[in-house]
Amino acid sequence: MKIETFEMERMQSTWENLVEYDLSESGVRPLTLRELMEMGFDLDSFLDVPLGYSQSNGTLELREALTQIYPGATVDHIEVTNGTSEANYLVALSQIRPGDGFALETPNYMQLWGVPRSLGAKTRTFRLRDPFQTGNGWEPDWNELERAVTPETRMVYVSNPNNPTGSILSEAAMKRIVERCEAVGAYLLADEVYQGAEISRERTKSFWGMSDRVIVTSGLSKAWGIPGVRIGWIVGPKELIAECWSQHDYVTIGPNKLSDQLARIAVTAANREKCYARTRAVLSTNLGITREWVRSFDGFLEWREPDAGAIGLMKYNANIPSVELCERIRVRRNTLIVPGAQLGVEGYVRIWIGGREEYLRKGLGRVAEEFGVVSGAVLPDLY
Ligand SMILES: Cc1ncc(COP(=O)(O)O)c(C=O)c1O
Repeated sequence: MKIETFEMERMQSTWENLVEYDLSESGVRPLTLRELMEMGFDLDSFLDVPLGYSQSNGTLELREALTQIYPGATVDHIEVTNGTSEANYLVALSQIRPGDGFALETPNYMQLWGVPRSLGAKTRTFRLRDPFQTGNGWEPDWNELERAVTPETRMVYVSNPNNPTGSILSEAAMKRIVERCEAVGAYLLADEVYQGAEISRERTKSFWGMSDRVIVTSGLSKAWGIPGVRIGWIVGPKELIAECWSQHDYVTIGPNKLSDQLARIAVTAANREKCYARTRAVLSTNLGITREWVRSFDGFLEWREPDAGAIGLMKYNANIPSVELCERIRVRRNTLIVPGAQLGVEGYVRIWIGGREEYLRKGLGRVAEEFGVVSGAVLPDLY
């Protein structure tokens, strides 16, 4: 199977551990095992766990805990995966056939641009219109949605809260998307991995339960701040979950046993709230720092502040492609940020706001140095 390069992930995997300041991330700074111990994780008993295979679709205990988050779901509606990315992948692998239509909201995390195309689907996009056009928040372009989602469409993918805008769909917009999917008989795959990372708003409503055409994916990587355990999940109709499990047998068999055990600690109702509260505290402080930083450019940068997620999407006022701009910042300032072009929106950059305060300030300082040069008339050589 031929698959095109996942530009953003490739860029991150190449550089994120080599640069001095990595502001390309999108989750809150990760928790440590020590912090999990404060939430009831027993390190000593962990040392005696036999390192065998785990239950391949997730232990009953973990799936039972997850049913508490998704009313009406039973353990047979849930497949535990290696991260949200494997969850998305298994859904696509199990459902998409050559010639199917696939519709993707943009800007977005572009995994489900490349994967359905590799499976032979005809992939179309519909935009979230930018707040500078709508005069409001990021909102789906309803005409584009109607054109992209047709009776040939097998599946529609949205991330809500959205990566990279950090915006949250209104309930009316969610309803309208679901209705369109129902009208044409498409599945709606709602990636809700940023749910719980709201900075000052109420918790994002899940698409789960709005229709039997809804599939939700999520995981511990963003709002929980535990990406390293690589635990995600799919919640969907039982028959679809069974098909995803069959695909899982071929891909990775199942998640890692230690990770499943750690996840069981993190997803209890009390610990979930603790993790979300930690995320909110980090993001509230960092949003203030970033807001001041954006203002200091006096018009070179514009943004609509994120409602959720450790991500700031900023529009820059210079005639330079975003990939080139970010490459300049990496090469000349040893700092990594994400070009909008890799997220389906040119003329923007995405900056991570989930790190430690000092790290964020220093990283932003580096980016500002290059923005200072770029906003001048002549650009010096890159190398
Ligand atoms: C919308 C979205 N889905 C999935 C992922 C991948 O998540 P995970 O680390 O849980 O595989 C990301 C990562 O940035 C994301 O932004």
